[in-house]
Amino acid sequence: MKPSEGTKPLYKDPSQCVEARVEDLLGRMTLEEKIGQMCQYTKYPERHEELVRAGKVGSLFNVTGAEQTNEVQRIAVEQSRLGIPLIFGLDVIHGYSTIYPIPLAMASSWDPEIAKKAASMAAAEASSEGIHWTFAPMVDIARDPRWGRVAEGAGEDPYLGSAMARASVEGYQGENLADHDTIVACPKHYVAYGGAEGGRDYNTVEVSERTLRDVYLPPFKAAVEAGAGTLMSAFNDLNGVPASANRFTLKTVLREEWGFEGFVVSDWNSIGELVSHGTAGTRAQAGKEAVKAGVDMDMEGNVYQTTLARLVEEGAVSEETVDDAVRRILKIKFKLGLFESIYTDTGLAAKVIQCNEHIEAARDFARRSMVLLKNENGLLPLKKDLKIVAVIGPLTDEQDALLGCWSCMGKPEDVVTVLEGIKNKVSEETEVLHAKGCDIQGDSTEGIKDAADKAKASDVAIVVVGESREMSGEAGCRSSLDLPGIQEKLVRDVCDTGVPVVMVLLNGRPMSISYSAEHVPAILEAWHPGIQGGNAVADLIFGDFNPGGRLPVTFPRTVGQVPIYYSHKNTGRPPTSLLYTSKYIDLPSTPLFPFGHGLSYTQFDYSNLMISPKRIAPEGKVEISLDVKNVGDREGDEVVQLYLRDLVGSVTRPVKELKGFKRIALKSGEKTTVKFVVGQEQLAFVNRGMKRVMEPGTFEVMVGGSSEDVKLIGDFEVT
Ligand code: NOJ
Repeated sequence: MKPSEGTKPLYKDPSQCVEARVEDLLGRMTLEEKIGQMCQYTKYPERHEELVRAGKVGSLFNVTGAEQTNEVQRIAVEQSRLGIPLIFGLDVIHGYSTIYPIPLAMASSWDPEIAKKAASMAAAEASSEGIHWTFAPMVDIARDPRWGRVAEGAGEDPYLGSAMARASVEGYQGENLADHDTIVACPKHYVAYGGAEGGRDYNTVEVSERTLRDVYLPPFKAAVEAGAGTLMSAFNDLNGVPASANRFTLKTVLREEWGFEGFVVSDWNSIGELVSHGTAGTRAQAGKEAVKAGVDMDMEGNVYQTTLARLVEEGAVSEETVDDAVRRILKIKFKLGLFESIYTDTGLAAKVIQCNEHIEAARDFARRSMVLLKNENGLLPLKKDLKIVAVIGPLTDEQDALLGCWSCMGKPEDVVTVLEGIKNKVSEETEVLHAKGCDIQGDSTEGIKDAADKAKASDVAIVVVGESREMSGEAGCRSSLDLPGIQEKLVRDVCDTGVPVVMVLLNGRPMSISYSAEHVPAILEAWHPGIQGGNAVADLIFGDFNPGGRLPVTFPRTVGQVPIYYSHKNTGRPPTSLLYTSKYIDLPSTPLFPFGHGLSYTQFDYSNLMISPKRIAPEGKVEISLDVKNVGDREGDEVVQLYLRDLVGSVTRPVKELKGFKRIALKSGEKTTVKFVVGQEQLAFVNRGMKRVMEPGTFEVMVGGSSEDVKLIGDFEVT
C-alpha cells in the first residue's frame, strides 16, 4: 500500500499522544529508515536530495530560508516512504540576522533576562526561515582565555554559567516547542570541552570527577532542568575516554542521574574522530562505541549511515539501542509539531527579521553588557559638545569584527561602527577626526604618526582596539593575550601626546592589557557587541547610559598567569611576601581585573547585612539581606554579588564561590534591600566519596560589587 492510500496511520494523527505516535511510527520503520533518522548532514544539495528521498536523513543543517527548507522538506514529507519531516538545525548563537553581543558579553550583563530575550528573538527570526533547532547555548566553563571559544560561553563560573544556560534554553524554546517562533536548544559541548590543554581547541582534557561535577557539569544540569530538548557531545577526550563515546557522562550522569529524555547529537564528525583519538580502530568500532554510549545522531560523520546496519546485523549493536535513539529523535520532531506544521510561511521572515524591536534590543543588550574597567578622575562620561574628538584605531570603522564569532546570517553592512556611533552622538559643532593608525594585525607603523597628530589636535582621543572576528570562536585560539599586531604601540604613542585617552576594547576574550590598565585613564570593555555596537559604545561614553556590566571572567596581567580564576583553592601556602609561597616571583598574584569587576558613573553604598538564622540544619535555608544605596548623583545599575566560603571541608574548598547575584537599578539617593536565600543547592559539594553533600561547619558570607570588592562580611553555621 502506498503511504497516501487507506486510513491515516496513527502517527499522523495529532490527537494521539506523542508516545503513541512515536511507537506507531517506529513500528513501521525498516532498520535503514531508523538509522536514517540518526544521520545529520550539512547542505550538499547533490547528495542530500537522494538520501532524503530514501529516508536516510533525519536532519540537515546550514540550510536556511523558508523556500529552501520547504523545498527539501517537501522531498522528505511527500516523496519518502513514511514522510518523516526533517529537523533543520543551525548555529543560531547570538542572533540570527539581528546580531546581539557575543555570549561572553551577554554574560557580562549579569542579567539572565536579557539572555532569555535575545534567545527568544533569535528563535523567532530563525524559525521564520525554516530553522527548528539551534546548536546553542554553549555552556562550557572556560578558564583559559587562550581558548577562542571562551567568547561563546558565559565565562569561568558555574553559578553565573548555570543562570545564563537556563535563561538561554528558556528563551529559545519558549513555552511550547510547537509554537511557530520557538526552536529547540542544544546545550554544548558535553562535557569539559573548555578544559582543553593549553587552551588549544579540540585538545585533551584531564579533570577530576570532583571538578567535573562541581565546575563543568552544573551549567549542563541547569540547561537540562530548564527542559533542553537536545544536547551535543564534545570533540575532546575526557580523562582518557572521548566525550562522544563516554558512557559515564552520557549515560550514568546525563540519563540516569539527571533523567535527560531528549536526544544527543555528536559534534561535527566527533564520532568519526574516535579513530583519531585512538579508542576505535575502525569507523565501525567508532559507530558502535558512540551509539552504545548514547550518541543518538551523527553530525556530518557519515559513520552511522555506513556502519550501523552491519553492526546490528552482526549483533554488535542491538536493534533496541537503535530504537531508543530513534525514539528520542522522533519525540522531539513530534513535540516541534513538524508532522502538522510542515512548511514555513514564506511571508513570515519579512515581518520579524531585523524588526525595530530586535534592533532596539540589540542596542540595549550591547549597552547592558559592556564593562567599564577603569575611569580615572571621572574622565567618562564625555561631553557631547567637545570641540574636537579624535577617533583612532584599527577597529574604529570596522563592521565585520563587531559581529563576533558565529555571526549566523548577520551581515557586516548592517553593523553600526564605533565611528558612526560617535558621529551620531556628538553635537553638530564637534569636529570628529579619524585615523586608523594601524591594522588589527601586521607590523606597519606608517599610520601611527598621523593618528598621534590627530590625537594631539583634539580634546580627547578615543582609541578603539582589539581583535578581529576570526581571532576568537572555534579554532580561534591564541598563545598571546596581548593586543594583536602593533596596537599597543598605537595606544602608547597616543597616550604620549598627553591628550586624555579613552580606550574601547572590541574583543572576544580577556586580554592582558597591563600597559593600558596603568596608563590609559578610561577603558571600556565592549566585547564584540553585535550590529548596534557602535551606537551602544557612544551611549556609554557620552553618558546616555550608565555602564553596569561586570566581568564574567578574570583578566590576567600576562598570559603566563593563566589559568587564573577567582574561585581557586587556598593551597597549603597561599601567596604572601614570603618566598616559599604559591606565586610567581616576577608578578603580583592578583589579576589585572578580577571576576565580577565593573564600574559605574555613580557609587553605591552597602550596609545592614542580616543573616538569618545564623545556624541551620542541613535541610535548612539561610536568608541573607542587605541594603544598597545609590550615593552618587545619577541613576545606575549595581550588580550585587554574594560569595560564600566553606571554611573547613572534608575536601579542599574554593576561597570563595559566587552563590547569588542581582542586577538592580537605583535612582540617585534611592535605597533598596536585596535578599538572597541559600540552602543545600548552593552549599553542597562533592565529597571524598564523590557524593554531593552539605557538610556541617561555618560558611563565610561576602557581599560586594566584585569578587575582590567585598563590602560586607558575615557568617552562618550548618549544624
Ligand atoms: C562544530 C562546533 O564545535 C559546534 O559548536 C557547532 O555547533 C558545529 N560545528 C555545527 O556547526
